[in-house]
Amino acid sequence: MDGNGRWAKKRLMPRISGHRRGLESVKTVITQCQKLNIPFLTLFAFSTENWLRPTQEVDFLMSLFQDSIKKESSSLIKNNIRFKLIGDRKPFPKKLIDKIKDLENLTEKNTGLTLSIAINYGGRWDIVNAVNEYRKKNHFKKPFTQKNLIQNLSLSFAPDPDLLIRTGGEKRISNFLIWQFSYTELYFTETLWPDFNEKAFTSALIEFQKRERRYGKTSEQI
Ligand code: IPE
Ligand code: MG
Repeated sequence: MDGNGRWAKKRLMPRISGHRRGLESVKTVITQCQKLNIPFLTLFAFSTENWLRPTQEVDFLMSLFQDSIKKESSSLIKNNIRFKLIGDRKPFPKKLIDKIKDLENLTEKNTGLTLSIAINYGGRWDIVNAVNEYRKKNHFKKPFTQKNLIQNLSLSFAPDPDLLIRTGGEKRISNFLIWQFSYTELYFTETLWPDFNEKAFTSALIEFQKRERRYGKTSEQI
């Protein structure tokens, strides 16, 4: 979800207004996924590198996450959404960690959209963390396999993503789901995240429908 800062700057508003407005796009995309029976939505909200931003902006984003989790909890439950947070939660305040765990537990059995929010997430962190998680439970006596890694990644409950949408014009992965994106279709749009509405989401899905996914095979084999 990129482009909140530029969206605000264009309007001579502080960057944080862009983040606040970005939350509306989050709600729009969640609603669209529900409407279209898309089972998994994973949103990159804050990377392990985003801590390097000015303290004021980091603090604002952290309180925006905290408030949103609090405010939206009941609507997530009501809408049959399974909530997950992926990322390293260790640096979060204990109260927030508890709140997240509670919401995950409360929504675990929900059968609708699985909504994963990546906060303090980095693809490289995830891979090293998965190896350490494996190591806690096993000894490296047998050769380490892809399955061993996959089962310990933070998105182990979800299939690999079909489509990556990056807004804001940048054409890079920025340390998001680097393992899982091996066969993901990539979609880059100039649209800034706060402007990413129902129409923009539909355009991305239409583009995705046109892609031929060969997974290494030839076109004739599909
Ligand atoms: C949102 O957009 C991404 C977050 C880390 C919340 P940006 O804050 O990166 O917006 P731009 O790139 O400065 O426009
Ligand atoms: Mg950005």
